[in-house]
Amino acid sequence: MAAAQRKNPLRDERDKRLPRIAGPCSVVIFGVTGDLSRKKLMPAIYDLANRGLLPPGFALVGFARRDWEDEDFGQVVYEAVKEHARTPFRQEVWDRLAEGCRFVQGSFDDPEAFHTLARTVKELDEERGTGGNHAFYLSIPPGAFPTVLQGLQTSGLTDQESGGWRRVVIEKPFGHDLRSAKELNGIVNEVFPEESVFRIDHYLGKETVQNILAARFANQFFEPIWNANYVDHVQITMAEDIGLGGRAGYYDGIGAARDVIQNHLLQLMALTAMEEPLSFSPRALRAEKAKVLNAAHAVTPFEETTARGQYLGGWQGGEKVPGLLQEGGFAKDSVTETYAAITVAVDNRRWAGVPFYLRTGKRLGRRVTEIAVVFKRAPHLPFDDTSTEELGQNALVFRVQPDEGVTMRFGSKVPGNAMEVRDVTMDFSYGHAFTESSPEAYERLILDVLLGEPSLFPVNEEVELSWEILDPVLAHWAANGKPEGYRAGSWGPESANEMLARNGHEWRRP
Ligand code: BG6
Repeated sequence: MAAAQRKNPLRDERDKRLPRIAGPCSVVIFGVTGDLSRKKLMPAIYDLANRGLLPPGFALVGFARRDWEDEDFGQVVYEAVKEHARTPFRQEVWDRLAEGCRFVQGSFDDPEAFHTLARTVKELDEERGTGGNHAFYLSIPPGAFPTVLQGLQTSGLTDQESGGWRRVVIEKPFGHDLRSAKELNGIVNEVFPEESVFRIDHYLGKETVQNILAARFANQFFEPIWNANYVDHVQITMAEDIGLGGRAGYYDGIGAARDVIQNHLLQLMALTAMEEPLSFSPRALRAEKAKVLNAAHAVTPFEETTARGQYLGGWQGGEKVPGLLQEGGFAKDSVTETYAAITVAVDNRRWAGVPFYLRTGKRLGRRVTEIAVVFKRAPHLPFDDTSTEELGQNALVFRVQPDEGVTMRFGSKVPGNAMEVRDVTMDFSYGHAFTESSPEAYERLILDVLLGEPSLFPVNEEVELSWEILDPVLAHWAANGKPEGYRAGSWGPESANEMLARNGHEWRRP
């Protein structure tokens, strides 16, 4: 059928390639003195302003205990922008942003400070025309959520003014197990209706992660083989070379599985395994992701299907680095894992019998995140055995970062008289294919909050389903001693290799 005939007259005919600009509004950040705020949130807000995606009267409000005036806060934002923004510094953009910077001093449990905040927000509505539209960004430890939410409620800041909106943005961790996540969701939903809650999983804001859906559903040749008939197994890797120096407060007692498997890696798995959504509407997307998470469970027995480790001192990139137990702030007998690997099964017709291996770790060989879909071997090879000795399995690899792109691995004839076949790779790289550079995940996500566009934010159901998958593994680990040590700069504990070897598989060395 011709494209013209297929046009739906009810469809929004706005050119979707044109970026949408946020309407008048403010962002209020709690936890404004933290690392995330300095390295990601403030720079992302500047980058959005620089790209012309924020309204002229936009306002940024910081809330913290420091004894700062608006100008001091402005200076902190300025330094963060200078150091961490993605786009070039432009004085006129900064000047406009700086005009809208406000600071409210107070602690989270001080009702008076929340009243001051309410007054500030009202003044902004008048001075800068923010129209009652305010997003409250909780970049704070989860233990402080209830107090801040209560402060917002009792000071009237959660009341949606006529025509205005109030939204809350929550950074992970969303609880530390299913029970606490439910409790937390309950507390949040008492104050904000679910459609006003934006839970940040910043991996969903990455271009390369959104490309999983584009590759799968905009093309014809992936989907027919995207199932248990052709796929042997899937490996999802998020490896980091950095250690945990300076992060003990957050990380000790949390560990790698809660920090990133529960959220980033299970979301990547859901996008890789889900059925085609009816549309890219938030509801349709979430429904398909939730179906996968509902059908998924961690495979047992856990002593064979999971692995965990803790990094030891060693050499990395020519530098001597300490082990976790020598990093400041960690308990000397800490059993917090810095490496975690689990095997997940998705019990539906498409994926029956296909293991999804999820692994993550700190102080590994290099920083890389990828999803490798590894295919079964060809059922018959009409070649001499000796000619295909170096032939592995076909694989399609989404390279999430840092070298963003897609790789296809397949066998090819080696030039020469013999019919010798060897693995080669075909690469698509963002850097070569596009002139535009990818926005930072936080740019996309903050803009989506301001636009009220919820597609890239997990809802409470997804969060709870993910804990349901992970909780049994965490309970098993808690009851079974310490994680295995692994050398900094290596690819993790030996038990991780054994875990795959039992199924005749091997981790990729990206
Ligand atoms: C965060 C984790 O969610 O993601 C950190 O809490 C981790 O431990 C970080 O370092 C990695 O993010 P990115 O975007 O650099 O891969």
